[in-house]
Amino acid sequence: MKICCIGAGYVGGPTMAMIAHKCDDIDVHVVDINSDRIAAWNSGTLPVYEPGLQEIVEANRDRNLFFSTEVDAHIRDADIIFISVNTPTKQYGVGKGKAADLKFIELCARRIAEVAVGHKIIVEKSTLPVRTAETVKRILANTPHGATFDVLSNPEFLAEGTAMTDLEAPDRVLIGGESAAAIETLVSVYARWVARERILTTNLWSSELSKLAANAFLAQRISSINAISALCEATQADVDEVAHAIGKDSRIGPKFLKASVGFGGSCFQKDILNLVYLCEHYGLTEVAEYWNQVVKMNDYQKARFARNMVKTLFNTVSGKRIAMLGYAFKKDTNDTRESAAIYVCRDLLTEQANVAIYDPKVTPAQIKADLKTVFTNGNGELAARDRKLIEENVIFCSSAQEAAKDAHGVAVMTEWDEFKTLDPAELYGLVYKPAFLFDGRNILDHNAYLQAGFEVYAIGKGLLDGE
Ligand code: UDX
Ligand code: ADP
Repeated sequence: MKICCIGAGYVGGPTMAMIAHKCDDIDVHVVDINSDRIAAWNSGTLPVYEPGLQEIVEANRDRNLFFSTEVDAHIRDADIIFISVNTPTKQYGVGKGKAADLKFIELCARRIAEVAVGHKIIVEKSTLPVRTAETVKRILANTPHGATFDVLSNPEFLAEGTAMTDLEAPDRVLIGGESAAAIETLVSVYARWVARERILTTNLWSSELSKLAANAFLAQRISSINAISALCEATQADVDEVAHAIGKDSRIGPKFLKASVGFGGSCFQKDILNLVYLCEHYGLTEVAEYWNQVVKMNDYQKARFARNMVKTLFNTVSGKRIAMLGYAFKKDTNDTRESAAIYVCRDLLTEQANVAIYDPKVTPAQIKADLKTVFTNGNGELAARDRKLIEENVIFCSSAQEAAKDAHGVAVMTEWDEFKTLDPAELYGLVYKPAFLFDGRNILDHNAYLQAGFEVYAIGKGLLDGE
């Protein structure tokens, strides 16, 4: 059997590496139009950082796992074609800011229709608005070489940072489709390492909607605990204690109740906005408003964190150095898409702070690109003033200590493990006094920082007094 995956990104790359790893008899070709990305997959420095990924890629690359830009040839040869391209939120026209931009999916479908011969199983891997398969099927119906197709939906549930373990031992694999034979072919691939009872099969639309709904439910939990975190700060309750207490209720459960500076990542916001757009499309105004509030609460949490920093630093951060520890949207990834750090950084730069950023995996080029995007207005213009802020007020550091040197405030933005072992006394010696710590992830030992001399602000705990 031959598999082709179109899109060598955060989803396509790790997923195909795992399939190749588990299925010796299947040749897996990952193709992408971005030749730099393919070159990186074929090099010692992969474009995606995920614990365990490098080892699996190196063990299987050029054996039954191949990365190339030969899109057409591998479409032609494949029995199963995964579409794993990006579906960002639309930034123009109808549905701007909410709907998914399906132009990359459509281009793939057109390419497949153009070059395919024989029978192919097309698998939607990218997260898509419900009923996208209909569009894909209609495009595929116009094929010059008499090819035939079955379209399946097989949404990805892996979380970045734990992608390889999620792929190896998934809670479930979901496959939606109409053709029992096509479904069974894909089931048989996953069944090489996933127990059959964990492989769920549904109709196409249930599968597509389940992905959006799962992400909406997960994000909703975070927005719920973040909403409670604001109330905790007003009432001297402690959000970690509240989360622990409510999580003990087996109906609620303990996971995804960690209050934070806000959720990020390529999925949550995009998928909820997608859901909102879909509900509006079907005239379900109240349902749309309900889910939209999850995103609004997240925006509020990010803005609140930045505002609190400014307020605590005597209502001005102009000309002050703020150390930002972490920039990725979560630990163990180099992905920064929708990271809360981008928005907090923007708000601090707007207040004319100097932001000294250290992240173990994110490159300065990525940080600059994100900041340029977030400062660019609806007409695609980046004001000279904002460009200057990005060029002159952002400092890239190669350690937490370097970032903290002469800082007026230290902010934890990402929960990287290495931040937990920083020495509070050492950091205290580096920063300006009074020394302020803002823990946007509640991962540090706050008492130890208080004892070292810091004033500590923590999410859902407020400004701690050291008792
Ligand atoms: C998510 C889903 O978990 C995954 O199933 C889906 O396939 C893709 O979207 P991902 O975005 O990679 O995965 O990471 P996730 O672990 O869900 O974290 C998302 C964001 O929420 C991160 O910014 C994380 O820091 C934040 N988060 C998570 C919290 O703030 N608190 C929590 O309790 C959990
Ligand atoms: P995800 O997180 O969903 O994997 P990424 O943006 O990391 O998203 O990856 C998507 C990949 O899909 C990118 O590397 C992009 O170049 C690739 N891609 C987009 N459109 C096409 C296309 N028509 N043909 C081949 N590759 C494509």
